[in-house]
Amino acid sequence: MKIVLIGYMGSGKSAIGKKLAEVLNLPFKDLDTEIENREGTTVSEIFSSRGEIYFRKIENAILKEILALDESFVLATGGGTPCYADSITVLTNRDNVTSVYLKVPLEVLTERLFFEKDSRPLLSHLETKELLNDFIRKHLFERVYYYNQANKIVEVEDKSIDEVVKE
Ligand code: S3P
Repeated sequence: MKIVLIGYMGSGKSAIGKKLAEVLNLPFKDLDTEIENREGTTVSEIFSSRGEIYFRKIENAILKEILALDESFVLATGGGTPCYADSITVLTNRDNVTSVYLKVPLEVLTERLFFEKDSRPLLSHLETKELLNDFIRKHLFERVYYYNQANKIVEVEDKSIDEVVKE
């Protein structure tokens, strides 16, 4: 069983993924962490020194390597993972992979990400909540096309981590 969580930055993929893995007694993997370990540096540093295209290339390659492993796990992806190259196909068309979209309302994402944006290279330049909200609205509009193809969609709304994990 391979469960892969997808969704926008700040949607709780890592926090929910860790708890879900614990409940199912499976190992938890985080794609950003795997990339950072492989590259020996942070995601922000990869964006600034090598650029986004380089990041997307290794993100897609490492995703495929992880999905090819002969083991069960829960994997949290990055917010952009399903939206580049053929990632959405490998996340939705494999018998042993269940992709789950954690759907979180725009206003909740904006509130959360305003305090966490500095670690995210795509958001760190957005100085005010209004600018951040505007950016996320447009970005989500582009990305939901991919997120909505997930094998399962969970409306996170104001549910607790435990409630989402149960669902
Ligand atoms: C990104 C999301 C980040 C990370 C990178 C790009 C994105 O992961 O992969 O900064 O394009 O949405 P999180 O969703 O864990 O923040």
